[in-house]
Amino acid sequence: MTTSDWAEVDRYLVDSLVGDGDSPTLAANAAAGLPAIDVSPPQGKFLYLIAKSARARRVLEIGTLGGYSTTWLARAVGKEGQVVTFEYEPEHAEVARANLDRAGVGDRVDIRIGAALDNLPVLAGEHPEPFDLVFIDADKANNANYVRWALKLTRPGSVIIVDNVVRNGGIANADSTDAAVRASREVIELIAAEPRLDGTVLQTVGGKGWDGFLYALVSDQD
Ligand SMILES: C[S@@+](CC[C@H](N)C(=O)[O-])C[C@H]1O[C@@H](n2cnc3c(N)ncnc32)[C@H](O)[C@@H]1O
Repeated sequence: MTTSDWAEVDRYLVDSLVGDGDSPTLAANAAAGLPAIDVSPPQGKFLYLIAKSARARRVLEIGTLGGYSTTWLARAVGKEGQVVTFEYEPEHAEVARANLDRAGVGDRVDIRIGAALDNLPVLAGEHPEPFDLVFIDADKANNANYVRWALKLTRPGSVIIVDNVVRNGGIANADSTDAAVRASREVIELIAAEPRLDGTVLQTVGGKGWDGFLYALVSDQD
């Protein structure tokens, strides 16, 4: 099986179950020259369903790009909900803002431009209500730092998801020198050692190749 076989399955699933096959957001991202590193439509729907299952009203996202995953999450939180999303590149944030407004969910999304590690302490200083779900999908080297921040900004029962941790199977290689693989192993080891988190990784294949989501549940154990 190859990525093109997996992409064909994704297409079938989009047509039969997921919808969003001709997403205006993905089209606008391509037109603006953004890299095609958004979650896939089946993955976006999966995030939406997880957020709905958790009855999430407050979502924190790290890594907006053009707002594709943000749109799924914003739909899940509903009219009364809020998504706070961090994006380093102002050009990406501008495309995301237009996409979110066109999708009719812009009013519930707060895009904060800049390095997430600079913006996270600012957000924490505002003493926000705990977030119900955190989706981490930005610079992979900081994944462990983002999970540490997510722990401060959530509550028992919240969910933390980290995208792209499997890296074509690279995480199984303890000797890998690839920075993103090392970052994946670091975040997995952090979660394994952290008593307030219980987690697993779901490997995925699809149009984006072989990768996987890390899913962690915040518990109240100290
Ligand atoms: C994989 S893309 C996000 C895709 C998006 N979550 C989606 O699925 O539609 C990663 C994004 O993180 C942004 N990014 C990279 N480093 C960052 C940082 N230090 N702080 C905030 N955003 C960052 C990149 O500019 C890029 O737009």
